[in-house]
Amino acid sequence: MSMPVRGVILAGGKGTRLGELTRVTNKHLLPIGEFPMVYHPLKKMVGAGITDILLVSGTEHMGDFVELFGSGKDFGCRLTYRVQDEAGGIAQALGLAELFCKEARSIVILGDNIFADPLANFLSLTSGRPNDAAVMIKQVPDPGRYGVAELSGGRILSIEEKPLKPKSDWAVAGIYSYPPDVFEVIRTLKPSGRGELEITDVNNHYVGSGRLVSWEMTGYWTDAGTLSSLHHANDLVRREPPRFS
Ligand code: G1P
Repeated sequence: MSMPVRGVILAGGKGTRLGELTRVTNKHLLPIGEFPMVYHPLKKMVGAGITDILLVSGTEHMGDFVELFGSGKDFGCRLTYRVQDEAGGIAQALGLAELFCKEARSIVILGDNIFADPLANFLSLTSGRPNDAAVMIKQVPDPGRYGVAELSGGRILSIEEKPLKPKSDWAVAGIYSYPPDVFEVIRTLKPSGRGELEITDVNNHYVGSGRLVSWEMTGYWTDAGTLSSLHHANDLVRREPPRFS
C-alpha cells in the first residue's frame, strides 16, 4: 500500500516587504490574476489529487482564511487549520503539521509561490522512493534572493540560503516533498542568523544523507512577496494561466 499524501500550505508571516498592501490584509489574500494568492497552492494540490490539506497562518488573519475556504468542501478538499503563534521560520511552521502528516508524505507549498507546471509530475518523482525528499528548482536571474542549489551532474551537492555569492543560478522554489521523518529533522535544527528555523537546513539534511531529488520546472515560477515580484506574478498569470492539473 502506498503512503498517504497530505498537503501543507504555509500562509503566515507579516508580509512587511509589501508595505501598505499588507497593513490590514494577509499577503496571501492579495490578488494574483483572478484569484486570491492562496488559491494557487490550494488549486495545485487539489488538481494533483491531494485532498487533505492543512493551512498554517498567524492569529491575525486565520479567520479570513476560514471565511474564504470553510471546510474546503466547495474546493474539493478537506481543510484543517493550524495557528502559528509567532513567526519562527518556514521549518518551524512546518513543524506544526506533525500530527496532521503522521506517517504520510507531506507536500509543502509556500503560499506566495506562483508557478505554471502542474504538481502531479513532481509527486511522481518520489513514487517508489518513500524515504526521499524532493525540491523544485528553477534558473533565475537573481538567485541571491532564494535558497541556491550547487549542482553536479544533475544532483544537488548543497543548498545555501540567500548567499551573497551564489554558486549557481538555480533557485530552490518553495515547493517541497518530504517523507515522514521530516519532523525528526526539524527537531534537530538550530535557529539561523536571522533567528529562524530554515527550510534550507532541512533540505541540506536530506542532501547529506543522499536522499534529496530535484525537479527542474519547465514553466515559469516566482514568489510574490515583494512589490516587484507581486506585479511580476500578475503579469505571468495574465499572459499564461497556471496549470492546476
Ligand atoms: C524562502 C526560503 C528559500 C526559498 C524561497 C522561495 O525564502 O527560505 O529557500 O528559495 O522561500 O520562495 P523567503 O522568501 O521566505 O525568505
